[in-house]
Amino acid sequence: MRFATTSLSPAHDRTGFRCGNPSLDDYLMRRAGQDARRGVAQIFVMEGDPASTVRAYYSLSMTGIEPQSIPDDLRDKLPRYDAFPGALIGRFAVALSEQGRGIGRLLLLDGLHRVVAASVHVAAYAVVVDAIDDQAAIFYRRHGFLPDPRNSRRLFMPLATARKLVFTP
Ligand SMILES: CC(C)(COP(=O)(O)OP(=O)(O)OC[C@H]1O[C@@H](n2cnc3c(N)ncnc32)[C@H](O)[C@@H]1OP(=O)(O)O)[C@@H](O)C(=O)NCCC(=O)NCCS
Repeated sequence: MRFATTSLSPAHDRTGFRCGNPSLDDYLMRRAGQDARRGVAQIFVMEGDPASTVRAYYSLSMTGIEPQSIPDDLRDKLPRYDAFPGALIGRFAVALSEQGRGIGRLLLLDGLHRVVAASVHVAAYAVVVDAIDDQAAIFYRRHGFLPDPRNSRRLFMPLATARKLVFTP
């Protein structure tokens, strides 16, 4: 299976996508295109066969990270600013028929790769994810994300960690 992601376009059929979480299916069907047009999220899809179908997708936006959301040992090394720059993976889903084949892991690396590349021009201290449920939080923790001390569904990964993951063969 070739792995690549591309920006969501009107040519993609969003109606047939099912990941097991209706709110993530609904987001792709009704809101993802609008969010992209309005400049509040970029949506990346892994195409299926035919290429008009969607195997997996995620959204990426810039965000602000409050100092209280960063574990003490990391926060102590940062300046005393009100907020730190971050990238948000807001939505993230793999089609039911494709789950358990390693696509989620590759999709996450793809998102981290895009953030690391963007951070050459716009600084980001960390990548933030909002896990939709406890299982999703486990998925992210398994891949190196740290829980927000105030909110176990929000997790983050310092960009230094993301850089290592992306550039480690
Ligand atoms: C969670 C999800 C993205 C995982 O995608 P996937 O393609 O099935 O995951 P992969 O096959 O790449 O699995 C990678 C690793 O994560 C683990 N994993 C997968 N789904 C998991 C879950 N729900 N909970 C905990 N671990 C999980 C796998 O066991 C695997 O670990 P291993 O390599 O040590 O065996 C997918 O199940 C999904 O889209 N679920 C519905 C929506 C959702 O929960 N989105 C998450 C974020 S909001």
